[in-house]
Amino acid sequence: MPGTDREVKFCFLAQPTDVNFGGKVHGGMVMKWIDQAGYACAVGWSGKYCVTVAVGGIRFVHPIMIGNMVTVHCQLIYTGTTSMHFCCDVIARDLESGVDTLTTHCVVVMVATDEAGKPIPVPSWTPQTDDDKALAAYAQKLMDLDQNIAQEIARYRDAAHLPQAT
Ligand SMILES: CC(C)(COP(=O)(O)OP(=O)(O)OC[C@H]1O[C@@H](n2cnc3c(N)ncnc32)[C@H](O)[C@@H]1OP(=O)(O)O)[C@@H](O)C(=O)NCCC(=O)NCCS
Repeated sequence: MPGTDREVKFCFLAQPTDVNFGGKVHGGMVMKWIDQAGYACAVGWSGKYCVTVAVGGIRFVHPIMIGNMVTVHCQLIYTGTTSMHFCCDVIARDLESGVDTLTTHCVVVMVATDEAGKPIPVPSWTPQTDDDKALAAYAQKLMDLDQNIAQEIARYRDAAHLPQAT
């Protein structure tokens, strides 16, 4: 039901088809998993079709080995009018030792859209616990930092004469 489930966990094995040239899991594959978990969480929360608008602070902390058990954990930490911000952690478990390692962390921002692709409002989420308030503050802090990054990128785009979004 929209506005109730704020969390999604994907759990699966890293497969030989996920490999990069160095024999570990491809970074692009990890980003695809994050995007899919963010999408599932966003559609579950909003009850609408959603698209990814931004991924903030992505950091590949540790490689994932083929055969690791991968958990992609996405949790809603902030809602705007049409946007939903999800904290996303990718954990890899070495099945033989049972050791879990954080491999990737980021904040994914998804927007609910109508059939024409225009943003539409989502159910709002109010943090209740101290942990949730800290997560919402974290999302806000990243948004503030993103403003500076966006200005730098706009300057670069202008200088490089890149095509503008329409
Ligand atoms: C996402 C999209 C629908 C937004 O449309 P738009 O006309 O730019 O809409 P807005 O400027 O009103 O932004 C919509 C929301 O996104 C948020 N947003 C926009 N850029 C953002 C960024 N860089 N970081 C975080 N949030 C951002 C806005 O703050 C707004 O949130 P709010 O309503 O909660 O305040 C449009 O840019 C789009 O279609 N992008 C391509 C999406 C895509 O193809 N994704 C990859 C495949 S799924």
